[in-house]
Amino acid sequence: MSSESARHAPPLTAPSLPDLPPARDDRLGRLHTRNLTTEDVSAVLQLRDQVLTQLPHPDLYVREPDEEQFVRTHIGTGDSLTRGETIGVFEGNQLVAYAMLGLPAPDDPDNLGRCFTSKITDPARTAHLTSCMVLPAYRGQRLQRMLLVARMALARAHERDFCVAMVSPRNHVSRHNLMREGLRIGWVGEIDGLRRQLLALSMSRRWSFNHQTLRLVHGLDWKRQRQLTQDGWWGINAYQRRPQGNTLVFARLARGT
Ligand SMILES: CC(C)(COP(=O)(O)OP(=O)(O)OC[C@H]1O[C@@H](n2cnc3c(N)ncnc32)[C@H](O)[C@@H]1OP(=O)(O)O)[C@@H](O)C(=O)NCCC(=O)NCCS
Repeated sequence: MSSESARHAPPLTAPSLPDLPPARDDRLGRLHTRNLTTEDVSAVLQLRDQVLTQLPHPDLYVREPDEEQFVRTHIGTGDSLTRGETIGVFEGNQLVAYAMLGLPAPDDPDNLGRCFTSKITDPARTAHLTSCMVLPAYRGQRLQRMLLVARMALARAHERDFCVAMVSPRNHVSRHNLMREGLRIGWVGEIDGLRRQLLALSMSRRWSFNHQTLRLVHGLDWKRQRQLTQDGWWGINAYQRRPQGNTLVFARLARGT
């Protein structure tokens, strides 16, 4: 297989990922979830601060210019100004993880649906899988995956059937989890000066990809990924090759999709 393109490629093997400690079922059983309210804002801010000060690379997640306003925007207040909801995971009274769903207005310049063609989505039907953080002691137990599924259900309840998530090309864990739940990389570029990938999933249309012609790209080769997505390619898989690092597989939508 050439370094970048593969015609009639053999089936791709499953991504190889680092071993994780076995899930501590006893602890999982004690966790409970609920939608957060404005009373939980300070707990979310504290959790974010704790996670953000311990990131292994600063680009994995960049602090918002106004952290409190960002959190408040994603708390469901039930009125017409609601622009999001946040699900919290608790052990007892301690918030141990959260995940936000963004519900941007169709004409909001920050609506990520605008990065896709009208054939792919309508900004009015777009929801953002905005932010998810899990305290280090609770990682590796599929909490992010569970929270992705929960937010997709919430998006449907808000009549948004197109979900978009933004990740740093360096955030292999998050991208892996998003792809495991069916999201695909459909846009790569700069947002607010940061190099980012947008992963998307339509819950109303099944996308099929042409697996006969593939492009393999280094996970951090942002410019090549940007070019491919501009040319209509989608990142459909990711795997780790040592020592080269993370490799992404791009394909085109199949005819008729
Ligand atoms: C990214 C984050 C939310 C993941 O939370 P989590 O609940 O531990 O993730 P999950 O347990 O659902 O992930 C499990 C999957 O990730 C994989 N994974 C876990 N750690 C990994 C690592 N270091 N490298 C690659 N994959 C890894 C596991 O193999 C598993 O995949 P599988 O189901 O295919 O076996 C958490 O690490 C975090 O809060 N990070 C800091 C903030 C951040 O980056 N948030 C995401 C951007 S919004």
